[in-house]
Amino acid sequence: MMSFDFKKDPFENFLESLKQAQIKGVPDHNAMALATVNEKNEPSVRIVFYKGLIRRGFSFYTNYLGHKGKDLEQNKNVSVNFFWSHLDQQIRVDGVVEKLTNDESDAYFASRARLSQIGAWASNQSEKIESFAAFEEKIVAIEKKYAGQTVPRPPHWGGYIIVPREIEFWFGRSGRLHERYVYEKNNQDWNRFLRSP
Ligand SMILES: Cc1cc2nc3c(=O)[nH]c(=O)nc-3n(C[C@H](O)[C@H](O)[C@H](O)COP(=O)(O)O)c2cc1C
Repeated sequence: MMSFDFKKDPFENFLESLKQAQIKGVPDHNAMALATVNEKNEPSVRIVFYKGLIRRGFSFYTNYLGHKGKDLEQNKNVSVNFFWSHLDQQIRVDGVVEKLTNDESDAYFASRARLSQIGAWASNQSEKIESFAAFEEKIVAIEKKYAGQTVPRPPHWGGYIIVPREIEFWFGRSGRLHERYVYEKNNQDWNRFLRSP
């Protein structure tokens, strides 16, 4: 069982937990389920990669015009969940998103594999497509366009940070007597309390 120090800052606890998950070999330990809602209040969940803490927010990158991008344009409320079965642990973060700056998104985009950069131009994320073959043709055309050049970041692709309102650390225990440690934002500080399993 991992020891958990509730007196510590939640971001510090998060980073330590994440490191443990990596050390223990949890596959895709930095993957999180991200829930958004559309204008009809219909929720939608998908997995995205957490890409580090920026200004005390949990960052991820995506297409701003896809399903989640459209949801976030009109409703900034999100909830994410990391689940690490090897550790019997989950971490839930509820909050609102803010877009990263162009410079921040540029810096991350530049670090991506070239094919991912090409894909960001080729994919109108979440839109209907004629066939996968047609999409592959688009990839080839964009590869040609940028041959021998740096691929610039598409303006519709970039990052968000999730600014947390609440962070819950959940530890599975035998008999379903799970431990739940909650940090709730209170101005610049955190209220700390436990929740019943
Ligand atoms: C392990 C894993 C990591 C993923 N990471 C990302 C990511 O960081 N950004 C992203 O846009 N999509 C990522 N995806 C794809 C998304 O789950 C999703 O299919 C895509 O973003 C389109 O979602 P949307 O149509 O709801 O906007 C990932 C999928 C998996 C399985």
